[in-house]
Amino acid sequence: MTSFRTLAAVAALCALALPCPAAEPDARVAWATHCATCHGSKGKAPARYAAQGVPDLNDADWQSMRTDKQIRALIADGSKGTQMEPFKARLTAAEIDALVKLVRSFKPAK
Ligand code: HEC
Repeated sequence: MTSFRTLAAVAALCALALPCPAAEPDARVAWATHCATCHGSKGKAPARYAAQGVPDLNDADWQSMRTDKQIRALIADGSKGTQMEPFKARLTAAEIDALVKLVRSFKPAK
């Protein structure tokens, strides 16, 4: 059901600003696979998740409140008592680093 839209989103992101290096783990694929359900294809959570307190990762205030280290730790270890699960068993360290960069690339829609 979501697969076409997800693929389209990945393709769109690849076609846009970011380079698509084959050698590095592709954060956009990891994002589409593991994160987009709850965080949206571009970091803005769908309404049902936003209502549960999932922050809009495009928000400049949110971005300024978090260090890369905190984002990395959150992806690796999750947020206890929420649906944000730890991903360190499912993603490599390089994939998590790539996801931190991807999260940092989210910006408010113009
Ligand atoms: C099942 C739903 C779900 C999935 C899948 C999910 N998240 Fe989350 N995420 C959440 C929720 C809920 C929160 C809010 C956690 C909280 O309030 O502490 C959150 C919060 C976050 C935050 C912000 C935390 C903060 O410090 O403000 C980041 C960054 C994040 N997730 C990244 C990711 C990444 C990267 C993935 C994929 C590897 C992912 N999430 C997958 C539900 C999810």
